This record gives sequence, structure tokens and C-alpha cells, in this order.
Amino acid sequence: MHARIIDGKAIAEGMRADLAKEIESLGEAGVTPGLAVVLVGEDPASQVYVRMKGKACDKIGIYSETIKLPKETSETELMEVIDRLNADPKIHGMLVQLPLPKQINERNVLLRIIPEKDVDGFHPVNVGKVATGDTTAFRPATPYGIQQMLIRSGVEISGAHAVIVGRSNIVGKPMASLLMQKADGANATVTVCHSRTKDLPGVTRQGDILIAAIGVAEFVKADMIKPGAVVIDVGTNRVDDASAEKGYRLVGDVDFDRAKEVASAITPVPGGVGPMTITMLLYNTVQAARQWSQA
Ligand code: GUN
Repeated sequence: MHARIIDGKAIAEGMRADLAKEIESLGEAGVTPGLAVVLVGEDPASQVYVRMKGKACDKIGIYSETIKLPKETSETELMEVIDRLNADPKIHGMLVQLPLPKQINERNVLLRIIPEKDVDGFHPVNVGKVATGDTTAFRPATPYGIQQMLIRSGVEISGAHAVIVGRSNIVGKPMASLLMQKADGANATVTVCHSRTKDLPGVTRQGDILIAAIGVAEFVKADMIKPGAVVIDVGTNRVDDASAEKGYRLVGDVDFDRAKEVASAITPVPGGVGPMTITMLLYNTVQAARQWSQA
């Protein structure tokens, strides 16, 4: 078998074109969606993501502010910034880029962002809304993007066995919530596995849809995949490569070259899940603007 490549970049571009039209009509109603992105410290990957988020906003017509704080910033100082953004009417959505420096408690920070502006969907109110199928929830961008990618590439989710490898709050857990909902684009039977799962390959081989989100380069081998499965690779791992211009290359959590011989469809890295994630953040920001303006 030779798997169909699910082109996240193309799907994301199509979605952004539709969203641009919606932003235009919000503009005619006097509403410009606004996003604030807060970065504490100098984590190189976070700097790249934050820059990409700002650029994506500029390109599509979303007002954005990027607030960069030094790595020594105290929790109190960060809270003051969040409070200011919570009260700013130009800002409909905000996020604090993770991970945070050690002196700052992530849970406290996520609780401080008002749920109505929590476009990352990490506040417990939004986590609860996603779990209970409340459509006013902000859905975390990565799993929301994966769900859209599956729907838009014609994958049958209803009744499928979706196996998720990884139980993070950002991907694994919300992915399970979204796919198990009694709703269109969902109705899957979901299994979440992780580092303590017994006979992991035996479980992953049951997945009609296999979602790898563990953050270990090429962890999922071909013999862990059910023949004909749809494989979604969430990983972006840097591996040393002297022949590459930057001295490294990006690989996913799946051994792509061999997996594509077993799967029926697979997402590449880069160009798969990545482009969808920022797209869904833009969607959430527009949803926030609509909810704030009741447009
Ligand atoms: N770090 C890695 N992914 C994310 C994300 O989706 N949102 C935020 N705020 N930080 C992240």
C-alpha cells in the first residue's frame, strides 16, 4: 500500500481563505478580531511559534499584540499583564505561550485568563465545555485542527476506533474529548494510550485512526499500525542532521517512510498538523470576536 498524503498546508490555506471573508464581514459590522500573545523568556521554539502567530494574524486581518517579557518575570508581573488584557476591549482572545519559566505556576496563569478570552481552550471552564459538548467552548487548536483535517479529507470518524498515543492536556486529552462527542465529525470509539500502557503496539494496531502525540522522534513504527489506518502525526522533533542547512531537520512521532507503506493516509511533518494549528487559533479568535460582539 502507498498512503495518500493528507496535505495540511492546502487544507489550512482553504480554511484561511474562508475565514478571511468572515473577518471582512465582521469588519463591515465594525468589529476587528483582536489577539494578544504573551511570551515569557527566550525559548527558541516558542519564539518561532509566537512570530508565526503574529504574522498569520497580520496576513488575515486580525489585530494582534505580542507582549514579550523577560525570562525573570515574576508570576505577579505576568498576572498584571493578563489582567490588563482581560480588560482590554480591543483584545477578544489571548494566550500565554507555554512552557513558562520555572518561577511561574502554569495552572495559576491559565486560571487567570478569563474563559471568554481563552482562545487556547486551556482554562478548566473550556476544558469542561469541550468535555460536555458545549459548542460555545474554545477547542484547543491542535486537536481541533486534526479533527478538521480528518473531516475535510473525507475520513470516516463515526464508528471508527481512534487510538491516541499521548495524554497531554494540549493534545491527547482534548483530542479524546472531541472525537468521542455525540456530534458531527465525531462519534468515534476512543482509546488513549501512554508510557505506562501494556502492549502498546497491540493497542495502536487496533486504531482505524492512529494519532501520535508523544514527542518522541519516529516512535511509531510501521508494525504498530493497522494496515489501511489513517495516521496523524503531531510530532515536531528536531534531530541532528549535518547535511541540513540549519544542522537539524524536523521529524514527526511516526517513522514516515515505512509507515506510508502500511497506512491508507498519513500526514507529513512538516506540512501536516502544524499549519492547521495556527489556522484553528485564528478561527478561535474570530469565534471570540463574534461571541464578544454577539455578531
Ligand atoms: N506550547 C505548545 N503548544 C502550545 C499552544 O497550543 N498554546 C500555547 N499557549 N502554548 C503552547
